[in-house]
Amino acid sequence: MNLLNAIQERRSVRSFNKETVPNETIERLLELALYAPNHKMTQPWRFVVLNREDQVEFFHFIQANKARKKGEEEPERKPLAEDAPSHIIAIVMNVNENDKLHRDDFAATGSLVQNFSLLAWEEEIGVVWKTPGLIHEPEFHEFLGVNEGEEVIGLLWIGYPEVVPEIKPRETLKVQYGLPSKS
Ligand SMILES: Cc1cc2nc3c(=O)[nH]c(=O)nc-3n(C[C@H](O)[C@H](O)[C@H](O)COP(=O)(O)O)c2cc1C
Repeated sequence: MNLLNAIQERRSVRSFNKETVPNETIERLLELALYAPNHKMTQPWRFVVLNREDQVEFFHFIQANKARKKGEEEPERKPLAEDAPSHIIAIVMNVNENDKLHRDDFAATGSLVQNFSLLAWEEEIGVVWKTPGLIHEPEFHEFLGVNEGEEVIGLLWIGYPEVVPEIKPRETLKVQYGLPSKS
């Protein structure tokens, strides 16, 4: 697969088959993704990788957290959904106190995620970047082991696709050539 095909054919995958992506593959793809551009080489990222066993706790945490907010009893642990991902990766980023550098770091981390998604797609591995409100909650940070001075910028669901969604059409390119006319 060449780069053009990878860019055009990649889809956000939300339904996975039961095959497990080897940890070595995830690590290899993450290591390659690190070649993203990064202003001042802050390299603000680290990754928390959850396998299927960890995901039972992860989904239980979500359900228990919801129940707690509604003042309800803690629900029982449930087995994973049939089409659960092979892994979920939390992307953890240092919070740069300089707002400009924080934005630069966020952009660099987005580039890293796209590198990872394209590399994964080339190996027929699907990825979706999810940003539920949960990722900003202190309880979730404690659950994941996210430290003071760090934030979670997203969760990547990863696995071999069960369903590949249709392409979502893009709007027409908006481009301005040159400077606005002064007249
Ligand atoms: C920063 C970011 C956050 C996203 N958050 C979610 C999310 O919370 N849930 C979800 O299902 N998809 C999420 N997506 C995936 C988008 O919905 C998806 O990229 C978009 O629909 C286009 O589809 P495609 O990636 O298959 O081209 C997110 C994507 C990005 C870049």
